[in-house]
Amino acid sequence: MARNEGTYKAQSAAAGEGQARAGVPKRASQATKMVPLPTDSLIPERDQGQTILECRHLGIDFGGLHAVEDFNFTVGKTEIAGLIGPNGAGKTTVFNLLTKVYQPTRGAIILDGIDTANMTTPQVAQAGIARTFQNIRLFDSLTVEENVRIGLHNQVKCGMWSGIFRLPRHWLAEKEFHDRALELLDVFGMADQAGAVAGSLPYGAQRRLEIVRALATAPKLLLLDEPAAGMNPSETAELMENIRKIRDDFQIAIMLIEHDMDLVMGVCEGIAVLNFGKIIAKGTPEQIQANPQVIEAYLGKQETDDAALRGKGRRYQ
Ligand SMILES: Nc1ncnc2c1ncn2[C@@H]1O[C@H](COP(=O)(O)OP(=O)(O)OP(=O)(O)O)[C@@H](O)[C@H]1O
Ligand SMILES: [Mg+2]
Repeated sequence: MARNEGTYKAQSAAAGEGQARAGVPKRASQATKMVPLPTDSLIPERDQGQTILECRHLGIDFGGLHAVEDFNFTVGKTEIAGLIGPNGAGKTTVFNLLTKVYQPTRGAIILDGIDTANMTTPQVAQAGIARTFQNIRLFDSLTVEENVRIGLHNQVKCGMWSGIFRLPRHWLAEKEFHDRALELLDVFGMADQAGAVAGSLPYGAQRRLEIVRALATAPKLLLLDEPAAGMNPSETAELMENIRKIRDDFQIAIMLIEHDMDLVMGVCEGIAVLNFGKIIAKGTPEQIQANPQVIEAYLGKQETDDAALRGKGRRYQ
């Protein structure tokens, strides 16, 4: 199957290669000391001995296509990790493997010390993985709060009979869920939109709501597939702050796929670069940006166009 050979559109030439735009926070790795593991991955020094995810020789074939091959990557318990690479490189497929949308052809996924080999999608969700999708998947006709409450369902504490007969326990749980949903929405300052119909929200707000719904499942590892897609630069800068805030407040790991290099380089601590299903580089944002193979395969093929000259942010496809 033909893959996209790595065509890119950088929407800003104004920033210049490898430089942060004005207003973009300093790169995370300036504050994070990364330490190497025997498995050839880096994790933050603060997470030493505490990994949430370990992928070992992970791979999947679709017919004759090796969509992901020998994927080895470790994420620390409170790390913000990045997965980047050109269109069709296999990034979303990695998320689909982690969440058991696909069962791997080869290799192992260890989540918080447990091999997920025989688990299903609901089981890995219960074990602590939550995700958002490249194409937003919300219940459009439900309210914002109802969408979040769907994420809370795995934390139901009241039994079936309490619900059927509307026992006091049921109303207590209802109140708990309502309060918790508003608390979670408040992470993105969206509590006042709780009653709005999800499908009526602007695009950026829908993306944020999807993150809140994923957070509602109380994950240990949050997977974000292109969270900044369709966002304007100020929404993206705000998202970057919120990703950090979520990590800090919830003390969880976040792994994100993005084409917006300002976001990736600004927030990620360890990064893996995929090309044609294989990891071609792993490292800190600085190491990735200086890696000749990555520049050749992804970052270096920067095209400037009209949008670029309007300064919309460094976005690569
Ligand atoms: N279910 C499937 N059956 C067959 N081929 C698939 C399937 N899912 C993905 N692929 C192929 O696997 C490759 C990797 O796709 P994937 O969606 O993971 O890329 P990606 O890195 O997420 O790209 P993008 O940046 O465009 O989202 C592509 O060639 C894609 O066509
Ligand atoms: Mg994808």
